Amino acid sequence: MDKLVIRGGNPLSGRLHVGGSKNTALPLMAAALLGDGVTTLHNTPVLQDVFTFANVLRVTGARVDFAPDTDANTPDSMIIDATRIDHTEAPYDLVKKMRASFYMLGALLGRCGEARVSLPGGCAWGPRPVDLHLKGMEALGTKITMDQGYVVAKAPAGGLTGAHIHFEPSSVGATINVMLAAVTANGTTVLDNAAAEPDVVVFGNMLQAMGAQIEGLGTKTVTIKGVDKLNAVEFTNCPDRIELGTYMIAAALATPPGETLTITGANADHLGEAFLSAFEDTGVPFDLNGDTVTVTGTDVIHPVSIRTAPYPGFPTDLQAQWTVMMTQAHGTAYVTDTVYTDRFKHIPELNRMGAGCHVDDHTVIIEGLNGQALQGTNVMSTDLRASVSLVLAGLIAEGETHVHRVYHLDRGYENLEGKLSGAGIAIHREEYQE
Ligand code: UD1
Repeated sequence: MDKLVIRGGNPLSGRLHVGGSKNTALPLMAAALLGDGVTTLHNTPVLQDVFTFANVLRVTGARVDFAPDTDANTPDSMIIDATRIDHTEAPYDLVKKMRASFYMLGALLGRCGEARVSLPGGCAWGPRPVDLHLKGMEALGTKITMDQGYVVAKAPAGGLTGAHIHFEPSSVGATINVMLAAVTANGTTVLDNAAAEPDVVVFGNMLQAMGAQIEGLGTKTVTIKGVDKLNAVEFTNCPDRIELGTYMIAAALATPPGETLTITGANADHLGEAFLSAFEDTGVPFDLNGDTVTVTGTDVIHPVSIRTAPYPGFPTDLQAQWTVMMTQAHGTAYVTDTVYTDRFKHIPELNRMGAGCHVDDHTVIIEGLNGQALQGTNVMSTDLRASVSLVLAGLIAEGETHVHRVYHLDRGYENLEGKLSGAGIAIHREEYQE
């Protein structure tokens, strides 16, 4: 297995480039299955989850070409030929690696009128249900049965029919999955309390480019008029908003006072109002200019408490990183996750590095250390965002931090050690035996 070794205390400055969004690339790839022909997706990130999902698509008979040039530092394009789809299954051994494979339910129903998709398991931080996905499909007329851990879905003879569907809570995955099925259903579908995350909007924009009739993207009510057929298109993925937020926090932690970190290729609007205003409240200066965000290092971080919420609320995918930032604050901060209420597996590891955090129900209470360094040690990744929070902690730790099981991190951060070492951080990858 691989681990990342970080020698703390080095200044982070210069430039970092944000890659294509993981959480948007996956639904874009699913959408490509609905287009009868060859789709090209630009700015596809080079990530383990993307390779896994490419393999999920290949099972159906789609041809996927993705030969990224990792040295070139240019956006990579994926080509998906969905002319022939003849196997309507997403098998357990692939779905278990990545929950987003469950998008195959909507994609295959939309394209072929049937699907057999393994139920995803839980996550390191707790159960993640799919009841809203299934209820949405049933509302469209899908007959759903369970067979040995698989969801078996079949559209009626005349095809799916539009329906009024209310999601509670708002769900990114369920909104995307049901949209995949509804775009070619008969009649109109109205999604109530739909997810308004940028990932959903950009995915909806691709469906529109393919010929889908969708209104209300980015609002709580999305209306879809079914069309007979969608065309394959060429489409460009958006930048990864979570990667951007992670780098802004990295700069707050490790860019020396008065020096700057320039983050390029970014879309700060996609971070949402709550994150940007919380970041402003910390007193760390930053400047937005087109696709560039410049963060200036400072010696005082004010404590700022956050609560995660659906977009434009504070993203749950940035709460673990925020917690690390708050370990350096001058005072106490609270981080509450209302979306995934048990997502705190990184806390014991951060405390082993000297952080003063306590979990109370769905909240972490962080006693800021007034800029005092953490201590480097061996720590264990448990999931994607928890892993990157440990890397951030390593930036401000005395000595070496060894972040084990970085395969979690490889699922969602493109060339993290390459990018950080290009901006002054002493970080490298090593193999080890568990
Ligand atoms: C997506 C993101 C993930 C992010 C999350 C919340 C991808 C691949 N993953 O996950 O990184 O952390 O959004 O922004 O895009 N829920 C139900 N029933 C369902 C589905 C969801 O109760 O059928 C609940 C969940 O338990 C959670 C809330 O809805 O409390 C939001 O989850 P959801 O938006 O569905 O997350 P994902 O799409 O799985």
